Amino acid sequence: MDLYEYQARDMFESHGVPVLRGVTATTPDEAQAAAEQLGTPVVVVKAQVKTGGRGKAGGVKVAKGADDARAKAEEILGLDIKGHVVKKVMIAEGADIAEEYYFSLLLDRAERRYLAMCSVEGGMDIETLAVERPEALAKVPVDPNVGIDQAKADEIVATAGFAEADRAAIADVLQKLWVVYRDEDATLVEVNPLVKTGDGSILALDGKVTLDDNADFRHEAHAALVDAAAADPLEAKAKEKGLNYVKLDGSVGIIGNGAGLVMSTLDVVAYAGEEFPGQPKPANFLDIGGGASAEVMAAGLDVILGDEQVKSVFVNVFGGITACDAVANGIVQAFDLLKQSGAPIKPLVVRLDGNNAEQGRQILAEANLDKLEQVDTMDGAARRVAELAASN
Ligand SMILES: Nc1ncnc2c1ncn2[C@@H]1O[C@H](COP(=O)(O)OP(=O)(O)OP(=O)(O)O)[C@@H](O)[C@H]1O
Ligand SMILES: [Mg+2]
Repeated sequence: MDLYEYQARDMFESHGVPVLRGVTATTPDEAQAAAEQLGTPVVVVKAQVKTGGRGKAGGVKVAKGADDARAKAEEILGLDIKGHVVKKVMIAEGADIAEEYYFSLLLDRAERRYLAMCSVEGGMDIETLAVERPEALAKVPVDPNVGIDQAKADEIVATAGFAEADRAAIADVLQKLWVVYRDEDATLVEVNPLVKTGDGSILALDGKVTLDDNADFRHEAHAALVDAAAADPLEAKAKEKGLNYVKLDGSVGIIGNGAGLVMSTLDVVAYAGEEFPGQPKPANFLDIGGGASAEVMAAGLDVILGDEQVKSVFVNVFGGITACDAVANGIVQAFDLLKQSGAPIKPLVVRLDGNNAEQGRQILAEANLDKLEQVDTMDGAARRVAELAASN
């Protein structure tokens, strides 16, 4: 889960990272009140959207006094920044910026460790810097078992080329950002800009944090950070039911057991779809896991059939520990559950293979379910489901 800047700010503050005061507002009136509450002569009105480049898109504006903050909030609220409509702004104290730096810490999956990136030339053009002068962006591997201790922090600031006089203060902030990363189970902590102010103090003026959802179980407090209104409603529903679901853009619903099988099903369906008008593509990723009980199957079908873009559904099951006859019974019961709930049934292609495939196929054949067809091979089923999506 990505956090909004104001959430990252609060999280930084709770771990002792130096930040400026900030108050959120959803209306110009609230923005004015927030600026009055802060009471500083200069405030900055900042769009709260989960995308980068807010400043360049006109989503970050300096305001002189509360009336001006109100006017700037009026301009920013409702703005569309790369498809994200601004519903909230943060009114932050204005900083007296002397220099802007860049720091990030992220998960380097390929190297099985973390990677710290740091530059004395931070700010809104960091992406250009990374491309045109990569040598100006220090990249320092971080051992997950050690993290950013004093020695590592010293190494990072030295590699980035900070002035001697600034190194100690910056190294101190980097260690605190490491604590955020470790204690909150983040996969990304980025501060751009990290600034030095006129009086020489170091501040995190912007914050991007991505939390590892797999660690949610040990962070009860993270649940409160979820922005339910912004989440895709189908993904939210799937999450509620404990399903492993990702919404995609196509028209063929996909259900499979096992992430690997589902991934290859997406490929096979995309390939088969090329033959048909409109070139139907997968509408989602949905792994119902090894168990594949009737409830899970019904929940999965319910989510997929609720997607208006879906024209046909491919249920691709390879029987392993859970045999195909159990899965077939699950499908039959799922149909009953769906019928009771009045959900619309769309054309369904089922391919059962593996453990007890014959029994499973027979159960489905005898159940004679509305709009359900069976195809014995994965390629054949993919072609048929793509054809149904194209003609529906
Ligand atoms: N509190 C502040 N006081 C003074 N200037 C600020 C403040 N916050 C931001 N700025 C200035 O505005 C610039 C852009 O702000 P910020 O980094 O928050 O947005 P952004 O970089 O455009 O957004 P994103 O990181 O999403 O791309 C900063 O580089 C800094 O110069
Ligand atoms: Mg920024």
